[in-house]
Amino acid sequence: MNNNKNKIGSLNIEWAKMWQEGILDAWSHLYIQKYGSITEAWNHKAPEYVKTMEHSNRTQLLEKLGQHRPETVLDVGAGAGIFALPLAKTKSVKRVVAVEPSTGMLDILKDKAEADKLTNIDCINKKWEDTTEEELIELNKGKYDLIISSHALYYITDLHNSFKKINDVCRGYAYLLIGAAANTKDSVYEKYYERIYRKPKPPYPDYTCLYMVLRELDIHPNIEMLDAHTKKYVNSVEEIVESWKDNLDGELTEDQRSAIRAYLTESGMIKEEEGGLYWVWRSKDALIHWKVEE
Ligand SMILES: C[S@@+](CC[C@H](N)C(=O)[O-])C[C@H]1O[C@@H](n2cnc3c(N)ncnc32)[C@H](O)[C@@H]1O
Repeated sequence: MNNNKNKIGSLNIEWAKMWQEGILDAWSHLYIQKYGSITEAWNHKAPEYVKTMEHSNRTQLLEKLGQHRPETVLDVGAGAGIFALPLAKTKSVKRVVAVEPSTGMLDILKDKAEADKLTNIDCINKKWEDTTEEELIELNKGKYDLIISSHALYYITDLHNSFKKINDVCRGYAYLLIGAAANTKDSVYEKYYERIYRKPKPPYPDYTCLYMVLRELDIHPNIEMLDAHTKKYVNSVEEIVESWKDNLDGELTEDQRSAIRAYLTESGMIKEEEGGLYWVWRSKDALIHWKVEE
């Protein structure tokens, strides 16, 4: 495969830069400012994230992945193992390698693997950018049948080399899952963003930037849109308001609190079911996937 960045047609656009800078602007600079690094941010966020994901439909993708009957799987940015763990239990799968820089996430993954008596998961506690093709292939004793990277590409940098490495260590299918269209309540969110974050809402980079980076590498992926949803159970609306602090630097002012409350009410995202209160997000995920040409 061509290692060089080929410009697509006459478009003189830095797709990788547009994606990376857009994500930084949208939220990840705040993670770095508040926690020191993205990895530290995920160490902090891991337990809450895992709880929220228990009520999501993210694993709808498992059926599609299982159809390839992979024997070896690589999960890039595996988090606490939402894919790595069920894949390791899948009949055809002999080995799963999970690459994950956050020890907070990996500790949860390892505890769950131990509780389920899984012995076919190997973990690499590194950023994807810091792994080498040699170590990935050596650990697996060959290339991987299936590679999945779910909701990690917001943070992975050096996209051309990162994608090239995914392609190079794969002998089967590569799947990248990423948030796409903002949820339908976005216009309501936009209205309150400036009061909550004290700056205008930055333009969000489109997932097609990732597609274009792959095209620059001579890869021709498919894209599918998936409906995504997740619920967060809470005891009160105030609990959600309070938890928003996690995505802000410093304490919430009274005006920020009232903007969050107004947003939650107007967006209709707070629901009640059998006496339990929850906050529901509905959005679209883009599934970018291709069969590796050998
Ligand atoms: C939103 S979570 C997604 C976790 C899981 N894949 C899922 O679908 O729920 C993002 C994960 O990407 C990891 N991550 C951040 N930077 C990374 C990097 N440079 N390389 C690999 N993973 C990274 C984070 O530590 C975190 O666990």
